[in-house]
Amino acid sequence: MSQPNGETFDIVILGAGSGGYAAALRAAELNLSVALIDKAELGGTCLHRGCIPTKALLHAAEVADQTREAESFGIKAELLGIDMAAVNSYKDGIVARLYKGLNGLLTHNKNITVVAGEGKLVAKDTVEVAGKRYTGRNIILASGSYSRSLPGLEVDGRRVLTSEHALKLDRVPASAIVLGGGVIGVEFASVWKSLGADVTILEALPRLVALEDEDVSKQLERAFRKRKINFKVGKPFEKVEHTENGVRATIQGGETVEAELLLVAVGRGPTTAGLGYEQQGIKLERGFVITNERLHTGVGNIYAVGDIVPGLQLAHRGFQQGIFVAEEIAGKKPAVIDETGIPRVTYCDPEIASMGLTETKAKETYGADSVETYNYNLGGNGKSQILKTQGFVKLVRRKDGPVLGVHMIGARMSEQVGEAQLIYNWEAFPEEVAQLVHAHPTQNEALGEAFLALAGKPLHAHS
Ligand code: NAI
Repeated sequence: MSQPNGETFDIVILGAGSGGYAAALRAAELNLSVALIDKAELGGTCLHRGCIPTKALLHAAEVADQTREAESFGIKAELLGIDMAAVNSYKDGIVARLYKGLNGLLTHNKNITVVAGEGKLVAKDTVEVAGKRYTGRNIILASGSYSRSLPGLEVDGRRVLTSEHALKLDRVPASAIVLGGGVIGVEFASVWKSLGADVTILEALPRLVALEDEDVSKQLERAFRKRKINFKVGKPFEKVEHTENGVRATIQGGETVEAELLLVAVGRGPTTAGLGYEQQGIKLERGFVITNERLHTGVGNIYAVGDIVPGLQLAHRGFQQGIFVAEEIAGKKPAVIDETGIPRVTYCDPEIASMGLTETKAKETYGADSVETYNYNLGGNGKSQILKTQGFVKLVRRKDGPVLGVHMIGARMSEQVGEAQLIYNWEAFPEEVAQLVHAHPTQNEALGEAFLALAGKPLHAHS
């Protein structure tokens, strides 16, 4: 049986987060009919529980810091306190406005039928929602991810939280333990510290943001020390106990840390259990959906996009994959997505933005003798001095070859990642980039200066 009015859709999409809704919009543009199914609000984790609300909190945190530091710019101001209800209504207002826009875009599209409810794959071409069947010539699985916990670590939403709970907190905790020094961990540690909490990060690996270049981790750790954000790296977490007023966490070796609450930020798992994927023959590994490079699952006309596909769990990767699959289904033969060409940004203070290979990875791939690096210190960049930020732009290149990686840390570095991405994806040579004129004074010049230096003609730096 096909869907209620007998129509078979061109595409049935399970999940309306970044990957799913991008696929729906692109497919609709290509005149394909789409059923877009979601059990919660359209927009998924990114809009409601991830990227957007956390960045609003990070911006409020920056305003608090700027108020505290106003005197160093000659401005007399005093931070009288944090009104968390008002911070939350600022954050929620942004989400609500964006949601209204997205909702309108999707529900008013004549090619898209939005279906509210929990979907389950019941045949290779059919998703069932509350007893109704939606049949498609193609299916896109886009069911997203959830906050993982650790065995024996019970999340109660009061003392032991996930990022979802942390986003809804009605107060600034007096103290917090952040379990995991990855992206979510350092972003929340940064927010809470700026809002006045005493924060300790516990990270099992030997450094914070371990996926980034080692120099970036070192600089972040220096900055966090200066900001008095505590962190303990290299020892896995063992257990958490409730105390009279909060929690006590123990790490390997028996050391303990106490705080009002603990945030679990040890990664996100794919939402694939109980959705009928395996029953239809789809291959899962550790819960992730295995696809080929064209995002096809190898079963019928079923594709998968977003956080359920192994790789970087980033909204912009989901968007790109959604667009890719819609075009693939429309027969447009899009170019395969280069996963190493996806930019990464961590919005803690200082911000981290990166592209391509780290120095270590580049040396592993091409051999230590074939790789060259250059670090341009933001100390020489006028705009960074105006912003009173410290950090660097690090370039990794293949000797006499193209740029392999760009790694940046410092205030507002997220805004520089666009140029880094173009340079990387065009496989530009430093000599070519060095010819580009960068506006003065901007932080963007730091990239330009780094390339001038790597091309052997430094302007305000040593080669
Ligand atoms: P993550 O994978 O970035 O970091 C998790 C950290 O927890 C790792 O460093 C890991 O070593 C540590 N860990 C795991 N088990 C541990 C243990 N037993 N004891 C101590 N430490 C332990 O995952 P995270 O931060 O939860 O983020 C989830 C996903 O969401 C990531 O893929 C991330 O890319 C994405 N995200 C992206 C953002 C952005 O682009 N700005 C913002 C927030 C999340």
